Amino acid sequence: MKSTPTWLVANWKMNGDTARTQAFAHAVNAQLAKAPSWLHGVFCPPFPYLPIAAVALPGNARLHLGAQNCHAHEKGAHTGEVSAPMLAEIGCQYVILGHSERRATGETDADVLAKAEAAIAAGLWPIICVGESRETYDKKQTNAWLDRQLATLKTLPTGRYLIAYEPIWAIGSGKTPTTVEIQAAHNHIKSALGSATSVLYGGSVNPANIGEILGLSGVAGALIGGASLEIESMNAMIASCQ
Ligand code: PGA
Repeated sequence: MKSTPTWLVANWKMNGDTARTQAFAHAVNAQLAKAPSWLHGVFCPPFPYLPIAAVALPGNARLHLGAQNCHAHEKGAHTGEVSAPMLAEIGCQYVILGHSERRATGETDADVLAKAEAAIAAGLWPIICVGESRETYDKKQTNAWLDRQLATLKTLPTGRYLIAYEPIWAIGSGKTPTTVEIQAAHNHIKSALGSATSVLYGGSVNPANIGEILGLSGVAGALIGGASLEIESMNAMIASCQ
C-alpha cells in the first residue's frame, strides 16, 4: 500500500439519522486515529447532520466533514439552497460537486464549475465527480465523455480540488470497471488536468475490492456510497489501508 495522500470519502447521500451520525462520527474517527497520517477520512452526511457530526467529533478529529452539494452564490434569494461559506462556517472542509445523481436532475458542467469556484473561495476542497454512462462505456467513448466534463474545470487552480472518477453505471450496481480501465481513466484525467491532480475512484467500492483499487498507481482514494453506511464496513475499509 502506498503512503501518498489518500482520501476515503463516505457519501451517505439521503440516508442516516441523528443517532447513526453520532455513532459513525465517534467510531470512524477512532479507527482513523489508528491509521497513518496520509489517510484522510471525509464524512458527507445530509446537510442537517453536519452540525451534529461536528459536535460529536473532538477538536483534533481525523475525520473531516464534507457536504454533498453547495450553491454557486454566497447568499441571497435562493430558496432551499446552502452556500459554500455556510458550510465552511459549520466546520466543513470538503464538498462533493457534480455527482451524477445531481447531474441527472439538470446540473450542467458550467454549474459544477461555478460551484467549485465558490467552494474554493470559501476555503473548501471540492470533490468533483465525473464519469461516463453505460452506453458510452460500451461504445468505448469514455475518454471523449471525460474530456467534455473536464474541459470547463481547466480554469480551476490545480491542486485546489479533487476529482472523483465515478462511472455512472458502476454506482450502486455492484459492478466496477476492470483495474486496467480504472487506471486508464485516471491517467486520462491527470493528462487533462495535470499530473498533480488527485483522482479518487467511486462506484461500488466495498471492503472486498478497495485494496485492489487503492493499490493502483494514480488512484488517490475512494468515494464510497452504500458501503460507507455501516460503521463496520467503513472501518474495515480504513483498516485495509493501514
Ligand atoms: P456506491 O456509490 O459506492 O454505492 O456505488 C458511490 C457514489 O455514488 O458516490
